[in-house]
Amino acid sequence: MTKRPIIIDTDPGQDDAVAILLALASPELEVLGITAVAGNVPLPLTQKNTRIVCELAGRSDIKVFAGCDAPLHRKLITAEHVHGQTGLDGPEMPDPTMPLQDDHAVDFIIDTARATDGVTLCPLGPLTNIATALQKAPDIASRIREIVLMGGAYFEVGNITPTAEFNIYVDPEAADIVFKSGIPITVMPLDVTHKALTTQPRVDAFRNMGTPIGEAVAAWTDFFNRFDMEKYASPGAPLHDPCVIAYLIKPELFNGRHVNVCVETSSELTLGMTVADWWGVTDRTPNAMFMGDIDADGFFDLLTTRIASL
Ligand code: BDR
Ligand code: CA
Repeated sequence: MTKRPIIIDTDPGQDDAVAILLALASPELEVLGITAVAGNVPLPLTQKNTRIVCELAGRSDIKVFAGCDAPLHRKLITAEHVHGQTGLDGPEMPDPTMPLQDDHAVDFIIDTARATDGVTLCPLGPLTNIATALQKAPDIASRIREIVLMGGAYFEVGNITPTAEFNIYVDPEAADIVFKSGIPITVMPLDVTHKALTTQPRVDAFRNMGTPIGEAVAAWTDFFNRFDMEKYASPGAPLHDPCVIAYLIKPELFNGRHVNVCVETSSELTLGMTVADWWGVTDRTPNAMFMGDIDADGFFDLLTTRIASL
């Protein structure tokens, strides 16, 4: 089997952690490296959390890089209210012993894109590292096979403001650069992720694996369930970021439209909104596959089968 080479760009975050585990459990994918960015919590914690997750998976060989510690032009906004003070609140996890790579994440992305035939980028947080790489080395755009990202929303509107999703809102200028890059983009917006809910039977399936990894995933989902179930009065929390990795493995789980997506970068009221031309009412050129639906049972089947294999 030819493995698909990917770079995961991430701000763990419990759902980022599950996404990383899913990727490491999937023989279809070759994780060339994981780049951390400031987002859910500041960079010193996201790079540390990334290494904690790799070690949990028994993969201290994975190269982890620290990237940008702040958005391109704005102050960092974080989400401890969702993810806890560490970003990975829930189970007690030991500090990592595997090293952080010396290179900057942006340089790793550039060098890898130049050296690899058709790398896929998987951003799970604010798009600062990706946009910085594209600004520093515009030649890499034509080397990247696809960007599959979690971010934005259309019908489901916002989770950090009434109209904006967190990852896009934190660094809208970076998102604007990415959506204008000409690289094929697939988007997992809130419209999809709010259908991928960690209901009690699904959390139980992780816990019932009887493995340290299954227990950690159950404890993480228990932790963010408390916040999201209260906020949305739903039977579970959206498991956002693993949708990106699941799409690489089983794209048939998702449904969407190839449409134009623009990012609002100036309005105070709707900053960070992803304006998706779902009904084709403009003549703007489609630039992204904007997903709208997911086979949630199929998604959780995939997730539990793969995580159980770790
Ligand atoms: C996104 O924001 C973060 O809190 C999650 O990790 C996810 O990437 C959802 O809006
Ligand atoms: Ca994330």
